[in-house]
Amino acid sequence: LSQENQQVLSAHEWLTKLYHHLIRFTKDGKAGYQYLKERGITDEAIDTFQLGFAPNTKDFTATFLEKKGFHQQLLVKFGLLSRNQEDGSVTDRFRGRVIYPIRNHLGKTIAFGARAIQDQEPKYLNSPETELFQKGKLLYNFDLAKKHIRKTSEAILFEGYMDVISAYQSGVQNVVATMGTALTELQAKLLKRYVDTVIICYDGDNAGVEATYKASKILQQVGCQVKIAHIKDGLDPDSYIKKYGGEAFKKEVIDASDTFISFYMRYLKKDYNLSLEGDRIRYLEQVLMELANIESSIEREFYVKELSTEFDISIDTLSSEIQHYRQKTG
Ligand code: GTP
Ligand code: MN
Ligand code: MN
Ligand code: MN
Ligand code: MN
Repeated sequence: LSQENQQVLSAHEWLTKLYHHLIRFTKDGKAGYQYLKERGITDEAIDTFQLGFAPNTKDFTATFLEKKGFHQQLLVKFGLLSRNQEDGSVTDRFRGRVIYPIRNHLGKTIAFGARAIQDQEPKYLNSPETELFQKGKLLYNFDLAKKHIRKTSEAILFEGYMDVISAYQSGVQNVVATMGTALTELQAKLLKRYVDTVIICYDGDNAGVEATYKASKILQQVGCQVKIAHIKDGLDPDSYIKKYGGEAFKKEVIDASDTFISFYMRYLKKDYNLSLEGDRIRYLEQVLMELANIESSIEREFYVKELSTEFDISIDTLSSEIQHYRQKTG
């Protein structure tokens, strides 16, 4: 580790402790504490995830770190302070926000996510990408989730910090998140080292569904089995848990997750008008091509039967079409 990076790690460690202390025990952190309480986050989870609050003053952080001997320039470069373009003064970049320390896979804080507690924009302000922090190489909470992932050979993949924290505190602990960006091949390979199956549990809105399809493809490419959790009413995992509780989340969402292919059969329907014959045929071709990738003939037959009923086409015809695709690709 370069000397610069050591300095940066040390600054992050100090700030993690400071912000966490403030949110738990002081008036300066009260606004953040109340915010998390309203969202149903327990003290235990606040401690586990070292959540904190950056006071809403211009130079609280700047003064604190300066006293510790850190160089301003470094703190600006790594996005802990921001420099005013006009007068060159530096101010606390995350002020007035709830702090989510982003830990690397060894548990060291290397960046922060910082959430607005009112409706300031942006909703989340994150540390900039640097040599130390690259979103696409990291999964949020992987350090804590690892032992639970090993135990179950399954990982649950979310979009956001709050989904991870909510699930974790309600007892579903093999959970990690991409931080709002598309899953990368590197992240997929990382998961593959520990799991057979990844359950994708993205937000129930349109963006979440699109991202689910893309993430599935990447995970399959690296050899993971994929299951898809479906969250009703367009909720996200955190808001589902808040509304229906952790038990329901486990039983109705995680344990009830779909195979990739049944997700795909639903997902693909948005592109076709199935009351038109031509669309029905093209839809079926797409689905059969995807079925051809399934190695288990038992599993294939299961879906073939479903399609045969839905589209009133014989099982033989559908099966021979699949064989045709299998010979082409295999
Ligand atoms: P809450 O509103 O606090 O429940 O957050 P969320 O996690 O549900 O937010 P959302 O589903 O919109 O986004 C998922 C993840 O994307 C977040 O956890 C962040 O990591 C990231 N993200 C969301 N909004 C922003 C933003 O405005 N800026 C940046 N840099 N990241 C964001
Ligand atoms: Mn958003
Ligand atoms: Mn979202
Ligand atoms: Mn969300
Ligand atoms: Mn949310």
